[in-house]
Amino acid sequence: MTVADQLRSLIRTIPDFPKPGIQFRDITTLLLDPAGLRLATDSMAAAIAGPIDLVAGIEARGFVFAPTLALALNAGVLLIRKDGKLPGATIAEDYALEYGTDRIMMHADALTPGARVLLVDDLIATGGTARAAVRLIRKAGGVVTQAAFVIDLPELGGGDALRGDDIEVHSLVAFE
Ligand code: PRP
Ligand code: ADE
Repeated sequence: MTVADQLRSLIRTIPDFPKPGIQFRDITTLLLDPAGLRLATDSMAAAIAGPIDLVAGIEARGFVFAPTLALALNAGVLLIRKDGKLPGATIAEDYALEYGTDRIMMHADALTPGARVLLVDDLIATGGTARAAVRLIRKAGGVVTQAAFVIDLPELGGGDALRGDDIEVHSLVAFE
């Protein structure tokens, strides 16, 4: 079985969550499986080119893979959080949702300008979240040229949009 097929078999699909018509790709079943967690981490790490200083994880599901990937790449972890959660001085970036907007934040002093940052999340759909994270990291002076996802939903176009932002996109499993 390919890596993609092994991971696909460990990801559960829940129909109509959180609303009718959405096929929710649930990684909690993958995380319960030690070999699956290791395979996802090792496969993402193997795809990354060059040295990385910080792995930036996006709250909440990106927080699962940022530390495992950071240990594999000998990098630190940068937390990108939803609005109002970080205690220090922050910088923020807004992004569009289907209805309304959302905001992500990082500590303003979290990285040294020029730091090489890898972005990670469990899944890319429209790319709105990941693109906002790239803008945020670049605003802080970080150099982000690669992003890693366990799951890509290519029909929603997020991967292509991120490539248009000069990001090399690595994903392990696509769900059509
Ligand atoms: C999910 C997922 C990504 C984002 C992808 O997070 O973990 O962060 O959506 O969607 P996009 O490509 O269309 O932006 P969600 O906002 O549901 O938050 P959660 O991790 O707290 O569940
Ligand atoms: N985030 C955005 N779309 C999603 C989906 N279909 N499954 C899980 N997380 C998501």
